[in-house]
Amino acid sequence: MKAFNEEYTLKDQSKLVLRLPQLGDEQGLINQMKTVDSETKFLARGAGEFNFTLEQERNFIIDSLSDENRLFLVAEIDGKIIGNCAVGLLSKNKRYLHRASMGIAICKDYWKKGIGTKMIKECINWCKEMGLEQLELEVVTENSRAISAYEKFGFETYGIKKHAMKYSDGTYADEFFMILFLNK
Ligand SMILES: CC(C)(COP(=O)(O)OP(=O)(O)OC[C@H]1O[C@@H](n2cnc3c(N)ncnc32)[C@H](O)[C@@H]1OP(=O)(O)O)[C@@H](O)C(=O)NCCC(=O)NCCS
Repeated sequence: MKAFNEEYTLKDQSKLVLRLPQLGDEQGLINQMKTVDSETKFLARGAGEFNFTLEQERNFIIDSLSDENRLFLVAEIDGKIIGNCAVGLLSKNKRYLHRASMGIAICKDYWKKGIGTKMIKECINWCKEMGLEQLELEVVTENSRAISAYEKFGFETYGIKKHAMKYSDGTYADEFFMILFLNK
């Protein structure tokens, strides 16, 4: 059975809780996903594209609690879910069992408080506890805040995916491939 519940004091003295999701979080998680999707052009979905029902979100929570190959955490401040992160095995194929990937999304009002740093650290810790060798991600080349956060932990850029996203105005975003070697 998974367990994770940590409380931190942030730079502005507010209390952050990082924890596993639980039943009852469905609406809070849906709200958080919808909010962050509408606030940034750096995530895979645009505004209005996240359409999980309460039942789908409930199933997502149940699945993530039972999946030992993945860790999904919510970030909560004053009882409100304001962010989430996920880290997990890239694939269960034997040849990929050394690799993990991660994602992170925090609502804009809560950026620059150190929350992303705490979440990345927990994703890295999970990989180390799982004995994994490398943690990988893709990040829009213009997302300097995220890139700086990953570089602080030693992530390296090893390539670029051209035109990874196309926005509704016809412009494109490229993505960097980043990797952290965990045994270095
Ligand atoms: C990217 C994201 C996760 C960062 O989280 P955050 O809580 O704002 O990050 P932190 O406050 O921990 O800051 C992390 C680092 O970013 C860098 N940073 C902070 N502000 C910055 C700015 N204005 N410009 C560039 N880098 C900046 C700093 O290196 C900082 O570390 P430091 O405070 O120790 O110097 C968050 O902004 C987010 O969820 N954005 C929208 C979704 C997204 O882009 N996800 C990542 C997809 S790959």
